[in-house]
Amino acid sequence: MYDLTVIIPTFKEEANIAAIIREVDTVFSRNAINGEILVVDDNSPDRTIPIVRDIQQTKSNVSLVVRKNDPGLSQSVVEGFHTAQSDIFLVIDADLSHPPAHIPEMLAEIRAGSDIVIGSRYMQGGGIQKWPLKRRVISLGATFLGRLLFPEIHDPVSGFFAVKKGVVEDAPLKPRGYKILLEVLGKGHWKTAKEIPFEFVDRAVGSSKLGLKTIVDYAAQVTDNARYSWNHHDSAVWQEWKKLFKFGMVGLSGIVVNEGLLIYLKEFVHLVLPVASIIAIELSIISNFILNDLWTFRADREEHALGHRWQRFISFQVVSVGGAAINFAILNVLATWAGVDYRIANILGILVAFIWNFLVNRRVTWQRK
Ligand code: GDD
Ligand code: MN
Repeated sequence: MYDLTVIIPTFKEEANIAAIIREVDTVFSRNAINGEILVVDDNSPDRTIPIVRDIQQTKSNVSLVVRKNDPGLSQSVVEGFHTAQSDIFLVIDADLSHPPAHIPEMLAEIRAGSDIVIGSRYMQGGGIQKWPLKRRVISLGATFLGRLLFPEIHDPVSGFFAVKKGVVEDAPLKPRGYKILLEVLGKGHWKTAKEIPFEFVDRAVGSSKLGLKTIVDYAAQVTDNARYSWNHHDSAVWQEWKKLFKFGMVGLSGIVVNEGLLIYLKEFVHLVLPVASIIAIELSIISNFILNDLWTFRADREEHALGHRWQRFISFQVVSVGGAAINFAILNVLATWAGVDYRIANILGILVAFIWNFLVNRRVTWQRK
């Protein structure tokens, strides 16, 4: 048994495979990790397989699976899960895009209790080097879709991640396309995910096989994971969407509070409109906060990073003002400059502000430790 299995999916990586194996192995020895390197290759027609076989002559911890059916990056990773001879798996690209130097840190986080550790490009300290604009745009689109399912995770489509065996062991994964992490998050058995930032370096040699089919597959995969969560209420996706739903209900209640108070203050207290409106808005923000704190995010109450209710309130207040500004800006820009009917422009503004409010409050106000 090994401490860790580093799974490297490969297709036509003759230019990179020796270097990535060498680098991973160096990290193992420098950090006293008893690690296995498992190359899962889709029967590459180039020299990838003979090169790995050659390395195996001198390195007993290098394993190779050559697949003949159903080729695909995700399928290969899942086959790696089932072949690995350890209880912790770490997936890394062969093309040196994912720095092996992060492996010890990721392993340490798993050992410290995280079920999943994600090497994340889209968080403070992470990034992408040498990607053309087109790749960046596609990737941001994919990440946005993925975040609809997992609002808490910055980079749900990273190809660099570690998981405990138990997360994926009997998960009903349907591997296809490139985004195996999304599948693991959607159907795996996990509670805690930790992200560590890293700098993605685009391959120097060889080419990416990501094409239109990859994008179509991905859209199908997102849909499938959404459908899965509908039938599995313990899934992470369902838990998130339940929060979004509650947040929406609270938002609607806020509209009622706001409108009711406005009418009351104007008609019965005889306040002038701007004053009545400010009070109505502020009180609806307060009532929204209380309901969200006591209901929407109740399940996380032991784990709030902002430990005091007033800290969460201040955060919520600031985010709400930002949301109002977004609503205001969209309404005025669309109605004044784009000629959109102001009622429709306002609905759009409200929707964007709502999404903003949810995502930012989820990530800041009610962030978990
Ligand atoms: N076995 C197998 N079969 N491996 C494959 C296949 C396949 O059909 N296609 C690609 N691979 C291997 C490559 O050899 C490489 O080791 C790794 O999978 C990533 O392939 P690339 O083609 O270099 O992917 P990329 O750089 O475009 O995408 C990477 O970044 C994405 C994030 O934007 C990957 O890490 C993706 O998983 C990740 O989502
Ligand atoms: Mn690559």
